[in-house]
Amino acid sequence: MTAQLVYVLNGPNLSRLGSREPEIYGSQTLENVADIVSREAGSLGLAVDFRQTNDEAELIGWIHEAVDRGADVVLNPAAFTHYSYAVRDACALVAGGGGKLVEIHLSNPATREEFRHTSVIAGVATGTIAGFGSDSYLLALRALAR
Ligand code: DQA
Repeated sequence: MTAQLVYVLNGPNLSRLGSREPEIYGSQTLENVADIVSREAGSLGLAVDFRQTNDEAELIGWIHEAVDRGADVVLNPAAFTHYSYAVRDACALVAGGGGKLVEIHLSNPATREEFRHTSVIAGVATGTIAGFGSDSYLLALRALAR
């Protein structure tokens, strides 16, 4: 049996983890996160494709690719969370195609500035996990593996 494929996609500025506001996002780099994600995926029997982009069009293209490949998606949309209807519409294609999409955040946006309280993605996500640092990624993988 082939392993269930999960795209783990990261939006803008997450390439700066480790040095970006460590009091909010922690001291792990995105490479560290990719490593723990890969280890967890291995133990859950999932195949993971881990990517980051600062570019909205590229992120949308990757979501389309996930839909075409029948993959599930773990998405940290970063700032796109709060305003990108284009990313939202792409996310809606995942559920429309029978896949699952978990929106995740390192921090808990609900406890932060007002503009972060809105997620335009949440309404088309299977579920949302926020506030657990890099464990948010691992919890999302566990949810998809069940
Ligand atoms: C974030 C929260 C967003 O509000 C912010 O724009 C990010 C990171 C998080 O993982 O906590 O870039 O998605």
